[in-house]
Amino acid sequence: VSSSRQNIVITGGSGLLALNWARYAQTQWNTTLVLHQRRIEVPFAKTRVVDLLSTAAVAATLNELSPSLVIHTAGMTNVEKCEADPEGATRTNAEAPAILAKECRTRGIKLVSISTDHLFSCGAPFASEDSELRLVNVYARTKAAGESAVLDALPGALIARTNFFCWGPSYRSSFSDWIISHLRRGERVRLFTDVFFTPILADELARAVEELVALEATGIYNVVSDTRLSKFEFGRRLASIFGLDSSLIEPARLADYKSPAARPLEMSLSNSKLRRRLGRSVGDIDQHLRLLHEQEGWADIKKVQSL
Ligand SMILES: NC(=O)c1ccc[n+]([C@@H]2O[C@H](COP(=O)([O-])OP(=O)(O)OC[C@H]3O[C@@H](n4cnc5c(N)ncnc54)[C@H](OP(=O)(O)O)[C@@H]3O)[C@@H](O)[C@H]2O)c1
Repeated sequence: VSSSRQNIVITGGSGLLALNWARYAQTQWNTTLVLHQRRIEVPFAKTRVVDLLSTAAVAATLNELSPSLVIHTAGMTNVEKCEADPEGATRTNAEAPAILAKECRTRGIKLVSISTDHLFSCGAPFASEDSELRLVNVYARTKAAGESAVLDALPGALIARTNFFCWGPSYRSSFSDWIISHLRRGERVRLFTDVFFTPILADELARAVEELVALEATGIYNVVSDTRLSKFEFGRRLASIFGLDSSLIEPARLADYKSPAARPLEMSLSNSKLRRRLGRSVGDIDQHLRLLHEQEGWADIKKVQSL
């Protein structure tokens, strides 16, 4: 059976998105998760350590595995860490995807590079793919540099700008994990009423991107759900769907916080280009939260959580 399946390589293999993607796609693909520092093993993918900053190592991996698709999710995703280490952030968020794009181009391999909704904060809700960027911190600047480097090296690449939630491993909590675990322990959480986003369930992100790849879409796509809401409202809807005590969620304002890195208030993205291309709806936040709730009982989700 496995020989009839395509080989896929997913970088950032120990991360939230890569683990969920490999889990989601296990019946269709032979997946190799590319690891960096953390070593993990999962039943639904092979793993291999590759230095993404070494052209030779990337070339050898692509030669050996000859994947039909590479999904690049690796990144320095901690905003404060990026601010403290701009050179490291540049290497991981801009140089690594540039190397990958060049090596994919030489071999005719399709590349999907995962970007972010962190590029705007211009005040206008529902940014489109060609809205002007407003890069407020090192994370945003290095992710934007990564997008440009990928498209320069490989114009046929697909860039997915997103913000997702999912069940994560013990060493890496997603935003939804963090809220759920606090509320289940009866602990209060403070969530921002002035930060807006359009989050999507990781499985729905993977499904939409795979459809875009099948349609041979290239360039930048926002891959998000239909619903723009505040982080506070996200917590309230999550609590309601999970039957948790929403009175533990307290409103806070990002504008009142002092943080080492500036953060955007308006991160919502429009998915209208995506919907037009797919010819279907992507779903609203309540649908995606209900799916997250359903997933909790799944054996493979428990496997991810046990890592
Ligand atoms: N989480 C979100 O809601 C969100 C929102 C918007 C966009 N995104 C984007 O989505 C992608 C996936 O995010 P995520 O939350 O799944 O990430 P994550 O859980 O933080 O995992 C990041 C992964 O990247 C790897 N990595 C870090 N530095 C590396 C390097 N120099 N070379 C190779 N691998 C390296 C890490 O491996 P080690 O741990 O072994 O170092 C880890 O596997 C990222 O590109 C992020 O920018 C995420």
